[in-house]
Amino acid sequence: MDDDLRQAARDFLIRYGGDDFPDFFVSAKGTIVRDRTGREYLDFTSGQMCATIGHNHDAIVEAVSRAGRKAFHLFSGMIPEAVPQLARTLAREWLPGGISRSIFVNTGSESNEVALRIAKMATDGYEVLVLGGSWHGVTGGASGLSMASDRRHYGVPTPGVFVIPEPNAYRPYIPAPTEEEAALANLDLALKMFDMQSSGRGAAIVAEPVISAGGVLVPPKAFMQALRRAADERGMLLIFDEAQTAFGRIGAKTGAEYFGVTPDIITMSKTLGGGLPLAAVATTPAIEERIHERHFTFYTSHVSDPLLAEVGLAVLRVITEERLVERANTMGAYLRARLEELQQRHEAIGDVRGLGLLLGVELVEDRQTRKPAHRLGALTTQKCLERGLSMNIRRRPERGSVWRIAPPLTVLHAEIDRAVEILGGALADSLDELARAN
Ligand SMILES: Cc1ncc(COP(=O)(O)O)c(C=O)c1O
Repeated sequence: MDDDLRQAARDFLIRYGGDDFPDFFVSAKGTIVRDRTGREYLDFTSGQMCATIGHNHDAIVEAVSRAGRKAFHLFSGMIPEAVPQLARTLAREWLPGGISRSIFVNTGSESNEVALRIAKMATDGYEVLVLGGSWHGVTGGASGLSMASDRRHYGVPTPGVFVIPEPNAYRPYIPAPTEEEAALANLDLALKMFDMQSSGRGAAIVAEPVISAGGVLVPPKAFMQALRRAADERGMLLIFDEAQTAFGRIGAKTGAEYFGVTPDIITMSKTLGGGLPLAAVATTPAIEERIHERHFTFYTSHVSDPLLAEVGLAVLRVITEERLVERANTMGAYLRARLEELQQRHEAIGDVRGLGLLLGVELVEDRQTRKPAHRLGALTTQKCLERGLSMNIRRRPERGSVWRIAPPLTVLHAEIDRAVEILGGALADSLDELARAN
């Protein structure tokens, strides 16, 4: 072990809230990441939910090398060939009809800043409705919209943000005979409260199609359709943040396609760059014309960078050629069935949910009370890592204890079997350990 490097990490890094991993990491390929000691881990979070086509796919490596022979970066006003090619591919092959004009930036947070600026300029409003449990990023505007992140000690958040209680079929705020009725009751009440407080300057409703950081919550279709109506009735734009849901992860081209709802703006990021920092925002020609007339700007150092557009084209090509949207459904069904088998063996698994290969497993102290099992969640996650499986536990006390499981869409049956075996073993050992400690 190179203690110098450990010391360097302690002396020279700003800590930003991540996990404490046993060693430094050196490489990643497909579903596997390796640390300095040569230890391999199954990566069931696809990096930070980005590597949907597998880490370091040959097509991405080739795209980077191609850009190296052409251009990595240009003056921001110069449009490289790959940029309109990528915009055309998105419009023709991936996005719902009518959403056809795009801009390319770098991160999910930034894409939501773009969307907010577009919505505010297009509507002349500033009020924004968001879902509880949302995560839209850490930059100024995006963090103002995020309810599953740390909001304390960072100063005054953006004014004009209102929260709709998130639909949660397992823990509804307003119990009702069906999941749909419970979700719509939340929305109804939230809109009444909003209309009471609104200054009449609504700009947008922003939603993740699957509320991921908030606990992998899948809203009922009727809820998403009702959001569309709520936006239209108030002259607000509907924005879908598809950082995690676009391009196959949930077994559909986009969340918009899955829910049968066309928003006014779609933001895309993680899954477009396959691990490189590419994000996009797309909207309708009418909205683009309106904001262009008003001199819309989002002029950054890396807007329209050729390197990332080449990578985006490669990622989309791989998803199509390897039929990864379909694969998310078949492999997702397989993984889900294996997790449901675990659920039958363990009372502590209260709920298995999600879409495609974006799955959540909620741990509870018992199924009657549904009390979140926080210690169990932390302990199993740690034991999984020790046994070679990296996955994510949602940690905020108010959001339950939910494993978030999202391997690359290229994951193999054998990798899923191995991961479920590790999960089952880690869960059984953690339950024993906690029982002995009590
Ligand atoms: C739905 C969603 N939107 C936005 C973001 C922010 O993206 P980034 O971390 O690339 O800024 C995330 C990141 O986790 C996300 O999950």
